[in-house]
Amino acid sequence: MTIHQKAKRVHQSYIRSGSQKLVSEFYVRLMAASAEIRKKFEGVDMAEQASLLSHAIVMSFLFIDKNQQVAKKCLDGVRATHAQHNLNISPELYDIWLECLLETVAQCDPHANDELLSDWHDVMSVAINHIREGY
Ligand code: HEM
Repeated sequence: MTIHQKAKRVHQSYIRSGSQKLVSEFYVRLMAASAEIRKKFEGVDMAEQASLLSHAIVMSFLFIDKNQQVAKKCLDGVRATHAQHNLNISPELYDIWLECLLETVAQCDPHANDELLSDWHDVMSVAINHIREGY
């Protein structure tokens, strides 16, 4: 299966998982997973943050297609804000981020299985690697 086909399946899974519901459940998991990550989000309005992330997740699906300028602009922005001189998000934290996202999909999507979770991993890794490489 091509990465484009995977992105389509993952987008359908995201909708099935209730999009906003998935993102808010994801943040509960992420905060529980790491004290370092929890500290980064101190004082942040998490409802607002969930809405920003749900947009960035859809942009991550579109980002598979390199000609999608809107998606590229969005993820270039996230790459800049998350860099060392800015929010200073250490590269290894993204592994925890992705792990928490996959666990939340497994919880929220009634059709989740190993193959679908592996598609989520592959699709989100494209955006995450782009953000991480800007560190
Ligand atoms: C463990 C990894 C990550 C940590 C610790 C983290 C942390 C943060 C923090 C502290 C903020 C600023 C909130 C504020 O001050 O209002 C933020 C904003 C944001 N994050 Fe992350 N982030 C991570 C990964 C990601 C990933 C993988 C994405 C996208 C797929 C993403 C998308 C965003 C967006 C869209 C914003 C708001 C706009 C911006 O600041 O660029 N983050 N993040």
